[in-house]
Amino acid sequence: MSDTPILHTARTEPDQLQMDAWSNEPLLVSLEMGGANWPSSCRAGTCRTCVGQLHSGTVRYALEWPGLTMEERAEGYVLPCVAYPCTDVVVQQGY
Ligand code: FES
Repeated sequence: MSDTPILHTARTEPDQLQMDAWSNEPLLVSLEMGGANWPSSCRAGTCRTCVGQLHSGTVRYALEWPGLTMEERAEGYVLPCVAYPCTDVVVQQGY
């Protein structure tokens, strides 16, 4: 993967906010910068306060094992505080 940051777009559901989402910034930071009122606590991938579900797009994790099960990840659940967008994403807050 290239180290050059890539600019993607993030959109939140159901409030339809749209914001820039750089590939080298945690998705949570982009959501906050874009005005989303997104809950967070640990900001380290363990407490799950920030959990959301991807409706489209993909993310990667800098952590080896963020606090989600394989099944949750397969269902599209993400922890935006430690997730980095690989594509444009549409994400819904909550579990
Ligand atoms: S804020 Fe704790 S897991 Fe994201």
